Amino acid sequence: MCGIVGVVGSKNATDILIQGLQKLEYRGYDSAGIFVADKNGNQNLVKAVGRISALQEKIGIEVNGSSGIGHTRWATHGKPSEVNAHPHVSASFRFVLVHNGVIENFKELKEKYLASDKFVGETDTEIVVHLIGKLIEEENLSVVEGFQKALKLIEGSFAFALMDKKNPEVIYVAKNKSPLLIGLGDGYNMVCSDAMAMIRETNRFLEIHDGEMVIVRKDAVEIIDTDGVTRKREPYIAKLDLSDIGKGTYPYYMLKEIDEQPAVMRKIMQEYMSEDSPHQMKVDQEILEAVVKADRIYIIAAGTSSHAGWAAKAFFEQMTQTPVEVCLSSEFGYNIPLLSQNPLFIYISQSGETADSRQVLVKMKELGCKALTITNVPGSTLSREADYTLLLHASPEIAVASTKAYTAQIAVMAVLAKAVGEYIENSTARSFNLIKELSLVANAIEALLTEKELIEQKVAKHLQDTRNAFYIGRGADYYASMEAALKLKEISYIQCEGFAAGELKHGTIALIEEGTPVQALISNQEIASHTRGNVMEVVSRGAKVLTIVSQDCAQADDDLVVQTVHPFLTCIAMVVPTQLVAYYATLQRGLDVDKPRNLAKSVTVE
Ligand code: AGP
Ligand code: GLU
Repeated sequence: MCGIVGVVGSKNATDILIQGLQKLEYRGYDSAGIFVADKNGNQNLVKAVGRISALQEKIGIEVNGSSGIGHTRWATHGKPSEVNAHPHVSASFRFVLVHNGVIENFKELKEKYLASDKFVGETDTEIVVHLIGKLIEEENLSVVEGFQKALKLIEGSFAFALMDKKNPEVIYVAKNKSPLLIGLGDGYNMVCSDAMAMIRETNRFLEIHDGEMVIVRKDAVEIIDTDGVTRKREPYIAKLDLSDIGKGTYPYYMLKEIDEQPAVMRKIMQEYMSEDSPHQMKVDQEILEAVVKADRIYIIAAGTSSHAGWAAKAFFEQMTQTPVEVCLSSEFGYNIPLLSQNPLFIYISQSGETADSRQVLVKMKELGCKALTITNVPGSTLSREADYTLLLHASPEIAVASTKAYTAQIAVMAVLAKAVGEYIENSTARSFNLIKELSLVANAIEALLTEKELIEQKVAKHLQDTRNAFYIGRGADYYASMEAALKLKEISYIQCEGFAAGELKHGTIALIEEGTPVQALISNQEIASHTRGNVMEVVSRGAKVLTIVSQDCAQADDDLVVQTVHPFLTCIAMVVPTQLVAYYATLQRGLDVDKPRNLAKSVTVE
């Protein structure tokens, strides 16, 4: 969570910081701040509660210079307020720091080293900058020595950018677990949480590894390890297009990203289709072998990505003939089940930065387990640290509510499953024409996207003024229901559960009362009559029901009909109307679709 930017040697640091923070706003948006300095000793620190626009309004023309750092916060320690907003300053006001992450031993550090210091806010970050200041000033250390000494005392996750007001032409950077990159410019250099923030300025980036410190000057970048030894590293070129991260003519990123889904399906086909035969998939041999060697697949993911794991489980097992377990990363790391002899871990993560998933990856790699990351972000932490990566090719997803990444994750898992199935000569996989089936999915999504007006009207009637709702379904529709419910609750704040339709009567049906909205997903003819029975049960208890059904299951009075697609891929098609349901319910409540309260796009704290 949170976004960090920094620049040294620029013509207009304020402009670079503000536009960078705007690009990073999706990572955290409860408060923001910048520190800007020029060579003549003019220095300004400005902070504001709320969005970057609130910060922008407070910045006067005097806030300018050639270097600075900025931060958009997602509060972990201390409420969102101006005093808790970053940058934070040391006791003597000499050092200025921005931080992403959580300092786990901040209380101990405070008691042991800073008992006599006064703090203005409640953040863990303020302790760190006081500590750095104290070590440097009281022990007469250089900034590098003092910062390094502080880093050895700190436990937790962090990306830090530190400035010394006495020498504002340098930014000192360090990281552990939280993402941070160096952007290389001509006559200026930058620091940023992700490449998107700086793509207007440069496409050349340098990775920073955990434990390293980087000293960034306008014409030089030095990476040193914990012993102070310099490390050499080649920059890489980020293949990002500025137009990919714009909203175009759309009112919200979420709507744009929902609309992009047919194109993403086609892009995935194009990227993974073998040149030799359009029916075969192109996946690296070493990835296929890793799956084939495994006696069990553990899918590790959080939120929407874990729902994609559930959606992919059945066909992955059928195609690869290997059992699959889907695990929440935040649980798995601290509650490791009995592992099979030869497991393969698949980490599904849109951002590739989710701290919960990363901690599992680190632990499992220590145990010698191979890791495959399926992500939308090349070069992300989970991609770099895994043995293998498969990309989603969904182009950047900016809206906090994930849409196109979910459908792309299922499609890429299908590609992998099909490729492995062919490799092991599984006849089901060989006869399964994935390209044709994904084309039908793309068409089904396209058809749904022409029904926006109808969906908007249905939502207005069905979800008006409600505080709670249910999605129900069986089999794959249950998995799609879990995702549909998460989407609705995270942006519209309607409390919504995705429930196995048959399980409802074992307790939860007690919550159904006059007017409770229930959305039923029905896309499997074999079990449709059972789900319809569950619909009758809730209707009998006063629920109002909206049915979303596949064409082959449709009845005259169903509300929304989705073109029938292969049962293995049904979650992709069935989820799209539910994304639109969430979108319109949120709009109708007058809420910000792209930036729901309390959330951030990239969850980089455990
Ligand atoms: C999706 O709408 C959510 N905002 C969230 O559940 C997200 O999917 C989760 O945090 C995992 O993120 P990742 O895919 O980047 O790892
Ligand atoms: N822990 C710090 C705070 O609460 C940083 C949070 C963040 O990553 O935005 O201020």
